[in-house]
Amino acid sequence: MSKKLHIKTFGCQMNVYDSQRMTDVLGPLGYETVDEPNDADMVILNTCHIREKATEKVFSDLGRLKKHKTKRAAQGKSTIIAVAGCVAQAAGKEITRRAPYVDMVFGPQTYHRLPEMVARATRAGGGVLDLEFPAEAKFDHLPAPRSEGETSAFISVQEGCDKFCTYCVVPYTRGAEFSRPVESILDDVKTLASEGVREINLLGQNVNAFHGTSAQGGTLGLGDLIREVATVNGIERIRYITSHPADMDDSLITAHGEVPQLMPFLHLPIQSGADPILRAMNRGHSAQEYRETIARLKEVQPNLALSSDFIIGFPGETDKDFENTMALIQEMKFIQAYSFKFSPRPGTPAVTMENQVEEKVKSERLTLLQDLLGQIQVEFNNACVGKTFPVLLDREGRDEGQLVGRSPYMQPVHVTAPTSLKGEIIDLKITDSFTNSLSGVQLNPDKTANLTVGASA
Ligand code: SAH
Ligand code: SF4
Ligand code: F3S
Repeated sequence: MSKKLHIKTFGCQMNVYDSQRMTDVLGPLGYETVDEPNDADMVILNTCHIREKATEKVFSDLGRLKKHKTKRAAQGKSTIIAVAGCVAQAAGKEITRRAPYVDMVFGPQTYHRLPEMVARATRAGGGVLDLEFPAEAKFDHLPAPRSEGETSAFISVQEGCDKFCTYCVVPYTRGAEFSRPVESILDDVKTLASEGVREINLLGQNVNAFHGTSAQGGTLGLGDLIREVATVNGIERIRYITSHPADMDDSLITAHGEVPQLMPFLHLPIQSGADPILRAMNRGHSAQEYRETIARLKEVQPNLALSSDFIIGFPGETDKDFENTMALIQEMKFIQAYSFKFSPRPGTPAVTMENQVEEKVKSERLTLLQDLLGQIQVEFNNACVGKTFPVLLDREGRDEGQLVGRSPYMQPVHVTAPTSLKGEIIDLKITDSFTNSLSGVQLNPDKTANLTVGASA
């Protein structure tokens, strides 16, 4: 009998990926995913611990889920409530104490054991806590990924982090840096390509620290992994996320000039443009070194555009430091960015640092920074008008006869085009720009339509 599963995902792309894999693991047990928690037999909160608010949201959701479980119990139905992900890993015991109605608590490294956990929770009526970093690799126990009809797919290639930036919980919640073997990644790429996937996003907390063992012996870095992925039939676009500036090695930089499928858009978080702050954050590079890395990338790929993450109001950040961050943004012209106020996380060194920045100052600086980033984004979008971009048309738009795709720079592009072009990469001339998207027209609509019909007939 089919059971209903609802997963609510918080946090980063890695959590989105993990949630997808949890549905793959639970499918054979009869669980079908539903979009709403109402009436679900199992609800999993896949949580994020990166900032304070993320944790608060989990506890308020749990309060609501308790009511859901009580209501169903009155109707004679049982409900499994689970907390997964980084809050589970960091505060698993606190969760079982504060919310004893939660049946299963497990971290990011053990969800391949879900069938066993579900069996235990059902038998014993809850109380399963699995926060290990098991020796057996999770990936060896997960089913092969499926495209689900999508033309763009994420593949996790690396997990965990050894960098220990002084503000960050990831090394504690995700554990030590780990890279998957190259062959097993390529198997996933081939499976997905054979199902029609055209774009591969290589995923990792610190993806360019990748050093997977190769079948030929030795290890490959991310640059060489990208070269391998590019040889798989059908793969027309490659991206990777998230990278660390100190791990941009020669092989990865030159790949940007050599591999045509590698998109000219790079998310390379810098966090701050001020050296004293970068040092206090333990980022392992200066602002100048970041500039030099970008210069080398642009030498091999002049069309490269950048995005970044920023932390505002890190302890000790002065007005001058903040000005340096603003100046770096102007100089680098980040076309997209995530920016957050510094959030002190329990157990990290930055919590006890001197000269914590007042909340009011953090807010003022964040507003200035986001205004500037917004302005640059609009300027970039406007400058795209008149250009021709290959666009991967991956979904139907809201309006009748409309498709939406992604430009090489991840901008959503709207176009009037036949549904038969869904899943294709089509050259579009950009005709209009908006704050967060573009619209375009097909260059040779008749020719493309005929070609596509001919090709699929
Ligand atoms: N590995 C990536 C980032 C992973 S965390 C890197 O090194 O860039 C994603 C983003 O969350 C970070 O880039 C940072 O901008 C933000 N972040 C992490 N810890 C934070 C904290 N304590 N307060 C505010 N933002 C934080
Ligand atoms: Fe966190 Fe730094 Fe590791 Fe990124 S590199 S995950 S910010 S510790
Ligand atoms: Fe959050 Fe964990 Fe990702 S803390 S950002 S879900 S690695």
